[in-house]
Amino acid sequence: MSQPTIESILQENRLFHPSAEFSQKAQIKSLDEYHRLYEQAKADPQAFWAHLAETELDWFQKWDTVLDWQPPFAKWFVNGKLNISYNCLDRHLTTWRRNKAALIWEGEPGDSRTLTYAQLHREVCQFANALKHLGVQKGDRVGIYMPMIPEAAIAMLACARIGAAHTVVFGGFSAEALRDRLVDGQARVVVTADGGWRKDAIVPLKEQVDKALADGSVPSVTNTLVVKRTGQETHMLGDRDHWWHDLQKQVSADCPAEPMDSEDLLFILYTSGSTGKPKGVVHTTGGYNLYTHITTKWIFDLQDTDVYWCTADVGWITGHSYIVYGPLSNGATTVMYEGAPRTSNPGCFWDVIEKHGVNVFYTAPTAIRAFIKMGDEHPKARNLSSLRLLGTVGEPINPEAWIWYQQVIGGGRCPIVDTWWQTETGGIMITALPGAIPTKPGSATLPFPGVLADIIDLEGKAVGANEGGYLAIRHPWPGMMRTVYGDPDRFRRTYWEHVPPKEGQYLYFAGDGARRDEDGYFWVMGRVDDVINVAGHRLGTMEIESALVSHPAVAEAAVVGKPDELKGQDIVAFVTLEGTYSPSDDLLKELKQHVVKEIGAIARPGEIRFADALPKTRSGKIMRRLLRDLASGVEISGDTSTLEDRSVLEKLRQG
Ligand code: PRX
Repeated sequence: MSQPTIESILQENRLFHPSAEFSQKAQIKSLDEYHRLYEQAKADPQAFWAHLAETELDWFQKWDTVLDWQPPFAKWFVNGKLNISYNCLDRHLTTWRRNKAALIWEGEPGDSRTLTYAQLHREVCQFANALKHLGVQKGDRVGIYMPMIPEAAIAMLACARIGAAHTVVFGGFSAEALRDRLVDGQARVVVTADGGWRKDAIVPLKEQVDKALADGSVPSVTNTLVVKRTGQETHMLGDRDHWWHDLQKQVSADCPAEPMDSEDLLFILYTSGSTGKPKGVVHTTGGYNLYTHITTKWIFDLQDTDVYWCTADVGWITGHSYIVYGPLSNGATTVMYEGAPRTSNPGCFWDVIEKHGVNVFYTAPTAIRAFIKMGDEHPKARNLSSLRLLGTVGEPINPEAWIWYQQVIGGGRCPIVDTWWQTETGGIMITALPGAIPTKPGSATLPFPGVLADIIDLEGKAVGANEGGYLAIRHPWPGMMRTVYGDPDRFRRTYWEHVPPKEGQYLYFAGDGARRDEDGYFWVMGRVDDVINVAGHRLGTMEIESALVSHPAVAEAAVVGKPDELKGQDIVAFVTLEGTYSPSDDLLKELKQHVVKEIGAIARPGEIRFADALPKTRSGKIMRRLLRDLASGVEISGDTSTLEDRSVLEKLRQG
């Protein structure tokens, strides 16, 4: 099994059609219907989105303008009033869905819990009142640092209900990374748990929160709200820390949803870029609600009786949009699983599918590759016949893994939707609609209606079929990020100025390289900037470099990605040492551990290479391109004439 190479993908031309039975029952039933929707949306995007906003969501007050576009800043459904927690909960309570399972949760040790819409609504209202009790008000920010337990979703919905913005920090991030994000977002309260289960061990989350808040380093945080999950001894600090189960006894379950403006801040989610610290991606209420709602409905082809499972963590955008908001807004049954793929239980995902009769399953290529390695006997020993649709997200999927997924998991009968999108896009942008668009292994296929995706050169000109270029979007869409929190200039520079705007025409630059084939299908090749994708986790090389140079032994560091069979990419760091230090195995271990402490285990370098010097241009810039080739063990390609000292490269090559 290998990563997709350009050659293997160019040769990939198998076409898979959905069965007639699938198409007949699907939300979008044919390629003609898709084309009709696409052309309609392209001709009049505002009418297209306004019609959906009107028919799919509940509003407290209708908008007066569909789109106010002052490039690159967009406002959707201006002056409309709604609440996403109302759309996800309250509006289902007056229908037959009241007692339908909203959330089915499965804990890693095998405990489980089901909450109906009525029960989830009650819990959210109580949690919202607990936040209010701690002084949280509309417009405040709340940090959420949680394991994958129902309270994570409950906390998000409770924030949305009272108009506080959440900023969820993935539970795998270190105390330092958590602190940076809480400081940037100026969070008032942190919601956490004593611990969570991850790969057979307890992750002590509250302990990390204590470290992040130590010595008043996040002055904005006045309280924490702690859910008891694992039950181990946990230190609680005087007036600052509160157990959720204690507060629960003091608050009522009556909390009407606050009418929010369409453009009120819903959440901030931090993501890595090629420069500087992670940036706070800002999403607002109305456009995000609509976009996640309609993409979930059409792409996952939701039927009333479906059990839908997305395996992401709520710490990432996939968890926000496709575990919590999109499915619940549609009144679906969404599954949440605390565990991760692990060799101690190689059938863990398949057990969840069998136990809960999952119909629609959405996961990442890196998980698929891990399960391929664990062996076909595990899925084959389970009954997976409930599955009718599969999805993938987060990185390119190699055709071999696609075919395995289709055959071994999908039994050859389930369409696969390969969904391309980003934290910044809020929801899925390029994907098959499963009853309508035939699929090709390794291609995300076609843009969602209303998404004017293109492949361009750096002048903004569309390139021809099968020519590589940059993936860009030509028109604003409701789910798009609105700005970088506290830094609108960075928003403009990062996404809208790679291609200089001409005649007021702004293009959203995604940072991915891609090509489009003769059928118009998109093939996303991966990042064109200094972002690497390790096991579906997005990391900036510069963040890891900063973590390394913050260690006293390190003089300079350069980080690159190299292809990895399982994780897609792995991290390789080239490091030069300060004069008094010399390379050793102990130092190597210490540096890896240092990165884990600064960022989290997801950023642990697979390899660290000590060097006397790094290859630089005459103007002193590190030539990462050469290091990338060296790390990948391929011939150095491209021009090396700008190298200041060629012997540096020679030495590195000799190792
Ligand atoms: O490089 C693309 C890759 O993941 C990046 C976005 O990462 P993040 O913001 O963490 O969001 C991940 C989940 C939406 C993209 O720039 N990516 C995501 N989906 C795909 C993909 N690459 C290829 N194919 C995909 N389906």
